[in-house]
Amino acid sequence: MTAPTDLRIASISRDERPLIRTLNESIFGDTEVIRTFDRADLMMLVAWLRGTPVGFKVGYQLQPRVFYSAKGGVVPKARRQGIARALLHAMLERVQTSGYRRFVFDTFPNKHPGMTILALNEGFRVIQAGYNPEHSDYRLRFARSFPPADE
Ligand SMILES: CC(C)(COP(=O)(O)OP(=O)(O)OC[C@H]1O[C@@H](n2cnc3c(N)ncnc32)[C@H](O)[C@@H]1OP(=O)(O)O)[C@@H](O)C(=O)NCCC(=O)NCCS
Repeated sequence: MTAPTDLRIASISRDERPLIRTLNESIFGDTEVIRTFDRADLMMLVAWLRGTPVGFKVGYQLQPRVFYSAKGGVVPKARRQGIARALLHAMLERVQTSGYRRFVFDTFPNKHPGMTILALNEGFRVIQAGYNPEHSDYRLRFARSFPPADE
C-alpha cells in the first residue's frame, strides 16, 4: 500500500527522545528503546499521521560505511498503511546520501513476521542467522547494499 498523503516523516533531535520512548512503549511494551543513544551518526526518525506520532525508526553507524537500523515500529492502530515502508525508505535515502555503502538490521521472524516480509520485498537479503535464547526466536540479519555513487 502507498503511504497516506497526510503522513510526515522527520528526524528528531536527542532532546526529543521522550517521543520515541513513548512510541516504543506502546509498540513493544518495553521501556528501553536501545541500550545506548551514545552512537556515531545516531538517526531518529518519527512518522506523524495527521499530526499524531504513529511510528519511529532509530539507527546508527555500525562500521565506517555500514549503517545499522536498530529498532523501529508502528503503533497497532496505524498498521498496514505503508508507514513502516515509508520509514524504511526515508532512512535508506538519508543513509545513502550520507555516503554509506550498506544498510543492515536484525529481526526476529517468528515474533515480528511483518518486518521480514517487508525486508524481502524491499530487496534485502539474509546475511546471518542464529537462534537467540533471550528472544526465543531466530535472529535474522538482513542487508542491502547501495551502488557506488559513480555507477
Ligand atoms: C512490522 C511493522 C513495523 C510493520 O509496520 P506497518 O506500517 O504495518 O507496515 P507497512 O504497512 O509499511 O507494510 C509494508 C509491507 O510489509 C508487509 N507486512 C507488514 N506487516 C505485515 C504483517 N503483519 N504480516 C504480513 N506482511 C506484513 C506487507 O508486505 C506490507 O505490504 P502490504 O500491506 O501492501 O501487503 C509493525 O507491524 C510493527 O511495528 N510490528 C511490531 C514491531 C516490529 O515488528 N518491529 C520491527 C522489528 S525489526
